[in-house]
Amino acid sequence: MQSSPAQLFARIARRYDRMNRLMTFGLDLRWRRLAVDRLKPHAPRRLLDLAAGTGDFAREATRRLPSLKEVYLVDLTPEMLAYAPPKNPAPNRAVWHLQVGDAHALPFEDDFFDAITVGYGVRNFADRPKALREMYRVLRAGGVALVLETGLPHNAFWKALFWGYFRFWVPLLGALLAADRAAYTYLPESTAAFPHRDDFLYLCRQAGFHSGTYMEWLGGVSILYELHKPA
Ligand SMILES: C[S@@+](CC[C@H](N)C(=O)[O-])C[C@H]1O[C@@H](n2cnc3c(N)ncnc32)[C@H](O)[C@@H]1O
Repeated sequence: MQSSPAQLFARIARRYDRMNRLMTFGLDLRWRRLAVDRLKPHAPRRLLDLAAGTGDFAREATRRLPSLKEVYLVDLTPEMLAYAPPKNPAPNRAVWHLQVGDAHALPFEDDFFDAITVGYGVRNFADRPKALREMYRVLRAGGVALVLETGLPHNAFWKALFWGYFRFWVPLLGALLAADRAAYTYLPESTAAFPHRDDFLYLCRQAGFHSGTYMEWLGGVSILYELHKPA
């Protein structure tokens, strides 16, 4: 029987950070940092880190954005959120609110956040248009949303190499180190099924966002989408 995202992430929560570091050779941390730096000119005070998981994105945001006063970490899986609290690097400056919640029905009023980050989360949302509309709703006019996602390279040679790694070695690592091959088979499969680049931006525009752009790292293995709500 197939697991729901919450069941899957509950199973791997304990090994999630270690697997990320190993699978990406530590690059996932760098990609989150580069993403957060895009928010610096906007000096957000209140941030939603949606699908926050174990809090790595919230940690980088809190570390690198001195303007932040409040960070809401929202995730469907309490077992993932349980690893987040000790990661707040500035508890006296930025308060972290941890909330179990669903991206499809966010428990916040309209225009509540200055910025939103979603790291490797949108891929898992069952109804992406609905979740994007919710993100748009809770973001204030003039606010920015960043979506960091896995991607597939453009270059045919690099794509073949990467796909071999992603489809064979990553599930094997998952089996050996997280005792969960299925969870790490889901990762390449959900990446292949995700609407990348302009296809994803199209969905974002349908939800109301404008001037959506994206940038890529490692030849398209990692993609950062930057979305704006009209002022
Ligand atoms: C791959 S993890 C990403 C965690 C973290 N953002 C990061 O950068 O490492 C994906 C997270 O999305 C969460 N998730 C999946 N579906 C969700 C939903 N509908 N609403 C909120 N969170 C969800 C999972 O529980 C999981 O913690």
